[in-house]
Formats: sequence, C-alpha cells, structure tokens
Amino acid sequence: MLDTLASLEQRPLSLSNYGRAHDSPSCRVEPTGVPGFLTSIISSSLSWIEGEDARERIWTAASTRLSERSGRTAMPSMMRTFEVPLLEGQTVVVELHEPSLTSDNLGFKTWTSSVLLSSRLVSLSRYLPKSHSRVLELGAGTGLVGIAAACVWGVNVTLTDLPEILPNLRRNIDKNLSLIQSCGGDACALPLDWSDDTNFSEADSNRYPVILAADPLYSPDHPQMLAKTVQQWLRRTPESSLIIELPLRPGYQHERDDLKRKLVDLGLEIAVEGYECGSEDWQGRMGEQAEVECWWSLWRYKASAPDA
Ligand SMILES: C[S@@+](CC[C@H](N)C(=O)[O-])C[C@H]1O[C@@H](n2cnc3c(N)ncnc32)[C@H](O)[C@@H]1O
Repeated sequence: MLDTLASLEQRPLSLSNYGRAHDSPSCRVEPTGVPGFLTSIISSSLSWIEGEDARERIWTAASTRLSERSGRTAMPSMMRTFEVPLLEGQTVVVELHEPSLTSDNLGFKTWTSSVLLSSRLVSLSRYLPKSHSRVLELGAGTGLVGIAAACVWGVNVTLTDLPEILPNLRRNIDKNLSLIQSCGGDACALPLDWSDDTNFSEADSNRYPVILAADPLYSPDHPQMLAKTVQQWLRRTPESSLIIELPLRPGYQHERDDLKRKLVDLGLEIAVEGYECGSEDWQGRMGEQAEVECWWSLWRYKASAPDA
C-alpha cells in the first residue's frame, strides 16, 4: 500500500524557461477517484494491518497525497528550482525556498508572472539603458525575478518587499549568491512598503534606472501606491525603464487600467509590450494544469515629460 501511495505523489512541476510545465508529473494514474480512495484510507481504522507504526505510515502517506491535491495553500514549505535563460543560449538554475502559505503572505509563493518575466529578461536586455548597473524590484516575493536579473544582466539588484517577506527573501538571495556573483551580479533585500511615504528619495542619483515588478496588483489601492512608488524611485531620464508583468485575472481589469492611467499621468509611455501564457504551477484535484495569460510591458518617460 505504501508503494501505491508513493506512486501517487504530485511534486511541484519544474518550470521550463518559457513558464511551461515540463510534462513530467511523478503520478501517471488516472486522477478520477484518487481523492475518494485517499479519503477512504484516512478514515479507515486499517484494523487488518498489524502494528500501530505501519498504520501511522499509511495514514501519513495518504494525508500527504491528499494535501498535494488540495492546492498550494495546503502544502508544507518546499524548495523549488527554476531554469532561467542567459544570453547566448546558456541557462542558470535558481533555487528558491517557499514557506507554507500562512495568512495573506502572497510573497511566499513564486507566481507565474515571475516565472515568465525571469525568462523574458534576456530579450529585454536590448531596451535597457546603457548604464543600468542598479536595478530595483518591487514586491519581490520569493525573489525569482530579482535574482534572475542579477544573473542575466550581471547587475546589482535591490529586491524589496514588506518586512514580513524579507527573511525568506534574504534566505533565497543567500542560497543563490554564489551563482549571482559568478554571473557578475549582486543582490540584497530591503523593506519597501508602497504605502509608506517616508521612503521618499530626493536625490536623483539615489533613484534607479530600471525598476521591475511581477504580479504586484491585487487590491484597488495598489495602482495608486505603485504609481507613487515608481515616481519616487525611477530615475528621471528618457532611457530609464519600468518593466511590469501582470496576470490577466478577470476580476482585476479595473486595477490594470487604473495603473496604466496613473503611469501615463506620471509622464510614462509603453515602449514595448506583449502577451504570453504560462502554466499555473500546481495541478488541480483532477490533475488539470491551468494556463495563466499574462501581459508584460516596458515603460519609459515620454520625451516631453518634465525632467526626463
Ligand atoms: C502576488 S505577490 C508577487 C510576488 C512576486 N513578485 C512573484 O511574482 O512571485 C505580490 C507581492 O507584493 C507584495 N506587496 C503587497 N503589498 C505591498 C506593499 N504595500 N508594499 C510592498 N510590497 C507589497 C507582497 O508581499 C507580495 O510579495
């Protein structure tokens, strides 16, 4: 029975460099009926099996298989790997720790937009300012995009998020630091709350020529907070670039439009944009793999924008 339960394991899918899940799930069993099978084991006394220890191992294995089918929120902490393309066809593998998802800590999971944006960095290189040795990431979460940018572009990236996200973010930077440095980059994590006006950076030299943000929009307050943060931290030169990737969640069209309007009000315009599809990283109860459509865009100050 333990062998059967082991064969039903669902691991996090490895994500290829285009955000598509490799077709290598460990479980090749027709998913229909599996949750019912697992529940029947958990609710059984297993009285025909000798030894409390053996019964415990079976209950534990069945519960684990069921939690793997109950969505990401039911899962324990885990290490995951992400393959990121570099210039000239090479790749690096970034290793990230994802804590269990408690309360509202959305920064403890690596979202599809991040996976797609980390793979897009190579092709965005040609649009970047000639001198972009400093890069800021907003709402970095587990750190995939910032760590990838440090590797792909060989630059110094400041990854920022809310204070409660920083311990895991720092852990992930430390884990990948030798990889980042071998690519000529560097990275650190700092708290930056978009709602905190005291972050204000007065000197232009303190600002960043490149800002990155993946999936930062899920509240009606976010467009205003993000636009203000971009205004505070994006260097006011025509070459400076804001790069954003957003999932096209149906309930958030208003927030996306609002953010676009507010960025235009700041004097920014879209230099290049596109749509792409990635996989949701976890299969549903029946083994289905949802697709996530995303929009990426690179913004610059209009030539006519004040101080640009
Ligand atoms: C959906 S997650 C995306 C995380 C990561 N960029 C990714 O795509 O995997 C949104 C991130 O924004 C951060 N965030 C939310 N509100 C914030 C605020 N007021 N200031 C700074 N970061 C915030 C969250 O902590 C979280 O890490």
